[in-house]
Amino acid sequence: MEQELARIGVSLPENLLDRFDEIITKRGYSSRSEGIRDAIRGYIRYYSWMSEVEGERVGTISLVYDHSQRGLVNSLLDIEHDFSEIIRSSLHVHISHDTCMEVLLVRGEGHDVRKVTEKLMTLKGVKHVKLTTIVPGEDI
Ligand code: NI
Repeated sequence: MEQELARIGVSLPENLLDRFDEIITKRGYSSRSEGIRDAIRGYIRYYSWMSEVEGERVGTISLVYDHSQRGLVNSLLDIEHDFSEIIRSSLHVHISHDTCMEVLLVRGEGHDVRKVTEKLMTLKGVKHVKLTTIVPGEDI
């Protein structure tokens, strides 16, 4: 049986919508709605994967952010200090006048790795956060 559809209204920056439209055209989606449904499914899958990160982990958290966003740099530093036991190293690259990229090398309990990632994701001005992890000592 077909699921009932709910309609939502979303406000987006124009350039973000333009980029999204470009991608869905290239990928051959029949409509913007289909592209958005797929993007939401991907988002849900990623969060489900993240919620299963537990036990000892080694990994990276990469983030891209707008350093001109008021208060953001201080919030980031506070988080990095709060989690200094699991953030073992970090790299910072200035991508453009306002945009920075950081890669944090993390090692610790999966629950904590997840917690720091989630905190970073919710900060205003952070445009991208990606966590990758491996289980140390596991043959792959
Ligand atoms: Ni920078």
